[in-house]
Amino acid sequence: MLRARILATGSYLPENIVTNQDLENIVDTTDDWITDRTGIKERRIVSDGQAASDLAFEASLAALKKAQLKPKDIDLIIVATVTGDMPFPSTACLLQAKLGAKNAAAFDLGAACSGFIYGLHVANGLIRSGMHQRVLVVGAEVLSKFTDWQDRSTCILFGDGAGAVILEPTKEKHGIWSTHIYSDGNLSDLIMLPGGGSHAACSRETILKRLHLIKMKGNETFKVAVRTLEELASDTLEKNNLDPAQLSLLIPHQANLRIIQATAKRLGMPMEKVFLNIQKYGNTSAASVPIALDEAVDAGRVKDGDYILLEAFGGGLTWASALLRW
Ligand code: UT7
Repeated sequence: MLRARILATGSYLPENIVTNQDLENIVDTTDDWITDRTGIKERRIVSDGQAASDLAFEASLAALKKAQLKPKDIDLIIVATVTGDMPFPSTACLLQAKLGAKNAAAFDLGAACSGFIYGLHVANGLIRSGMHQRVLVVGAEVLSKFTDWQDRSTCILFGDGAGAVILEPTKEKHGIWSTHIYSDGNLSDLIMLPGGGSHAACSRETILKRLHLIKMKGNETFKVAVRTLEELASDTLEKNNLDPAQLSLLIPHQANLRIIQATAKRLGMPMEKVFLNIQKYGNTSAASVPIALDEAVDAGRVKDGDYILLEAFGGGLTWASALLRW
């Protein structure tokens, strides 16, 4: 059976580090509160002039280098982002130009924090059908530019970054075994950026009302996330006839350490088998899973034949999982 496999991974994090102590000087918060409630200690923030396509470019170059491929070898680019450079052209097209990937079609995919796994789902389907051969899937976000730095309940959570994978067809057992994507638009008001689109086009009023910045009902989102992810992880394993004990690594979206711990507990997985980097980068939305995957690969935590579960939950609402055999 034809399936897609991950040929190489790459990631890029901006150099600027903003610590919890730095945030204590901006809003009424403490390092202890942020650490206890989220697990986050610091996050990366872009420099002036750095946009999502710049982060995506660096992550993609890293993946191409590891794959020993040239940009012209890629025939499709999917960029998962909700903080793209501009409404159009797509960040994927801007990335295609930066890379000089002249043989690639390119489009953006908007599924918030689940965007990268949605991208894997699409790429996997296109590769399985034989329509594409080498697909670059990127998660790239610059959340810092859409963060309300006066809102202590959200500004402590987010960070910037990008992660990328290159997929190609394989007839081997290694590769993407299954992907699962879901949504519930009835809960769209839990996390949103209401202004700047055709619903409330950018105006003096939208800016004064701060509608151009992320709004989140954190506690409600938290409860839905825990419930949904616990079920999603178990279902994904069941659909692949796998027992949690057979899983070598869980790579979750890095939104909140307590959400991740709850998912691991439900699966009966020790935290040693869960990849964490939330303490360093916070929540980077669609970039979080591919950055974590790249770091797990580089750290030697992913070995030949391992079963790996990726999962994410975010705005939309959307949620998604992928079961990989490395
Ligand atoms: O990635 C996409 C999906 N997103 C998520 O999964 C995020 C889900 N939500 C969360 O991670 C958590 O809900 C938060 C970390 C955002 C908040 O944690 P919580 O345990 O749900 O806290 P809460 O919103 O119930 O707030 C508890 C208290 C409130 O004070 P009162 O009303 O009890 O007096 C807040 O005002 O904590 C207060 N608070 C803060 N205090 C210090 C909220 N933010 C802060 C802060 N520093 N930064």
